Amino acid sequence: MIHIKTPEEIEKIRVSCRIVKETLEFVGSKIRAGMTTKEVDALVYKYITSCGAYPSSLGYEGFPASACISVNDVVVHGIPSDDVILVDGDIVSVDVTAEKDGYNGDAARTFMIGDVSEEKSRLVKVTEECFFQAVVGLKAGTPLYDIGYAVQTHAEANGYGVVRALTGHGIGRDMHEDPAVPNFGRKGTGIRLKAGMTICIEPMINMGTWKVWQDSGDGWTVRTMDGLPAAHYENTVLITRDGVEILTL
Ligand code: MF3
Ligand code: CO
Ligand code: CO
Repeated sequence: MIHIKTPEEIEKIRVSCRIVKETLEFVGSKIRAGMTTKEVDALVYKYITSCGAYPSSLGYEGFPASACISVNDVVVHGIPSDDVILVDGDIVSVDVTAEKDGYNGDAARTFMIGDVSEEKSRLVKVTEECFFQAVVGLKAGTPLYDIGYAVQTHAEANGYGVVRALTGHGIGRDMHEDPAVPNFGRKGTGIRLKAGMTICIEPMINMGTWKVWQDSGDGWTVRTMDGLPAAHYENTVLITRDGVEILTL
């Protein structure tokens, strides 16, 4: 069921989204080669809790940390670890969800550590562009799969693979609400977006094949099948009568 948010609910989501945005800015100012992903996670926990909010990922279906931190060929849902040390040339997606006053905000950025290859930095740039392509012209009445169509068209035009196994989603009281928001699809299809819907648009784009596999050892880590790098970029977006508001930017 899709929840249309009341103005009061939207204000609460706005607050949580601002905390997420600031957390990612804080992480961006600190992240560097030599840190472990566990240390990056600690920054996320510290910042979110200092805002009187809760890192919704912590304990979500048993997830053991405050953020998903995904390095190079890890697409999403990387578990922060003492054993993963960031090195020069890595690309690292940090995905943060915060809840305050019962409502969630969710966003992800892919950070570049030190000197990143031309190839990898192009992947990061195009992944961000996929998000911005998706919000062009988006407003109440737009068919849902126009989002995926825009993401897929831009990614594939650049020779990249679009992850199918995971999608964006509605957000509100729950971190994951209806509808699912795929990063692929046919233009003009799907339900029509309505004003007051809050959704997360999150392109997950692979340098090579779109195929991924999930580590059965930890039950979370999603990696590219070919071992090539992946990037991730996410914002929480409010649909309005005449456009969108990007709440985590
Ligand atoms: N923030 C992720 C998303 O974009 C989900 C986190 S999964 C969790 O949907 F288990 F870490 F919570
Ligand atoms: Co997220
Ligand atoms: Co999300």
